[in-house]
Amino acid sequence: MGDDLTTVILAAGEGKRMRSRRPKVLHRLCGRPLIAYPVNLARRLGGRVVLVVGPASEEVRQALGDTINVHFVEQKERLGTGHALLQARSACGNGAGALLVLPGDTPLLSEATLRRLVDAHRAGNAAATLLTAVVDDPAGYGRIVREGGGVAAIVEDRDASPRQREIREIGTSVYCFDARRLWAALDQVRADNDQGEYYLTDVIGILQRQGQPVAAVVTDDPTECLGINDRKQLARVAGLLRARTLDRLMAEGVTIVDPATTYVDDTVSVGPDTILAPGIVLEGATVIGAACAIGLGCHVSDSRLGDRVTLKPYCVLAEATVEGEATLGPFCHLRPLSRVGARAKIGNFVELKKSRIGRGSKVPHLSYVGDATVGDDVNVGAGTITCNYDGVAKHETRIGAGAFIGTNTSLVAPITIGEGAYVGAGSTITKDVPPGALAVARGKQVTKAGWAARRKQKAGKKAGHK
Ligand code: UD1
Ligand code: CA
Repeated sequence: MGDDLTTVILAAGEGKRMRSRRPKVLHRLCGRPLIAYPVNLARRLGGRVVLVVGPASEEVRQALGDTINVHFVEQKERLGTGHALLQARSACGNGAGALLVLPGDTPLLSEATLRRLVDAHRAGNAAATLLTAVVDDPAGYGRIVREGGGVAAIVEDRDASPRQREIREIGTSVYCFDARRLWAALDQVRADNDQGEYYLTDVIGILQRQGQPVAAVVTDDPTECLGINDRKQLARVAGLLRARTLDRLMAEGVTIVDPATTYVDDTVSVGPDTILAPGIVLEGATVIGAACAIGLGCHVSDSRLGDRVTLKPYCVLAEATVEGEATLGPFCHLRPLSRVGARAKIGNFVELKKSRIGRGSKVPHLSYVGDATVGDDVNVGAGTITCNYDGVAKHETRIGAGAFIGTNTSLVAPITIGEGAYVGAGSTITKDVPPGALAVARGKQVTKAGWAARRKQKAGKKAGHK
């Protein structure tokens, strides 16, 4: 929207109603901290971005990660929204252009609505253009008091008269100001209200009394303007945002069997023709390819899945990578830094940690594979365990391509099994096995013919002596 736009985001509030030790804007919503939503939106609009934060500014910086082109301003004492905006004055410079103000706790605001607001502001000669919403339950919000069609004032819920409380048009804390006229009026705001705070809302009454025109744009979708002051509102907004994310995914070609029980973060991407079964949680930086089948009850966080991957029910993946056409589960656990190659098979009750499983390899049942590098086309028999920890340090296991590890084998790391080698079932392997060799390390079997009958006979004699 051009360089003459400055967006100020007010995010210094303590968030008392959250009853939390954490600043409100750092609470998470569908995979991002609350503050990321207005910051991303402001960036998309272009121009200068000024972020007013409280004393926990370092945490906010960290939570945002990328803070390039964001000017931070600290509001040391939290004396209200008007006071917060005043702190941004010098960071905003002396520019005459449009000054857009966004609250830090209203993450559903859309770019289209804000563009409509700024366009309307630029088209008119108003000192301020407000974004308002007409809602069924205005409790807690500032009410828009109109006189002769124009906006006369915003009255906070706690300062409103019973008649004013019946007004269903509310202020959203989104404003577009003419910068020069704003700063002059903001100086006049006083803290003579129920909370003893400097309310930004009061600037509207001041401008109106000065004879400065105040305009309003009413949002088409009041849910966009829902603010988050407490945990109940956090859960409600999360539900709405999730529904939006699922709608987007379905529009992009993803089948979602039961949207009501599917939890996908705003940060996740899913390819077309992938099917999501009920009861799924997909979180963080997860990327899922095309034509995958994600089974009932899977929980995937910060992981990458290629195309045509199958997760059977109840797989848990964290920071894992799964290449195309691999099949996992049911009931497997991929812990961080696991990498499963194309067409590999990880079966039930298998745990992987910091391990690479080669292409086409199979770990089908009841195994723990940690700190291991497994080549292509390896078969790891049921119950195989890498003994990677000696109580002090972790050690690595290497299994060459085409090796065959018999059932119920313990591989005591550090250890290397060469390419194409065989390990007999039930072995405890403590020495490297060269390529192509067979290693068997288990107690030799002793077989005594007719032993059972002899035992019976002995037992009979003993009973006779009694
Ligand atoms: C505010 C409006 C109210 C409006 C509602 C819309 C005021 C006085 N009231 O009420 O009219 O209907 O938003 O959601 O403006 N903040 C600071 N420093 C402060 C206080 C607040 O930076 O000293 C920030 C908060 O972090 C928050 C935003 O300003 O992001 C709004 O503050 P909040 O306390 O949530 O205001 P509401 O009571 O919701
Ligand atoms: Ca609020």
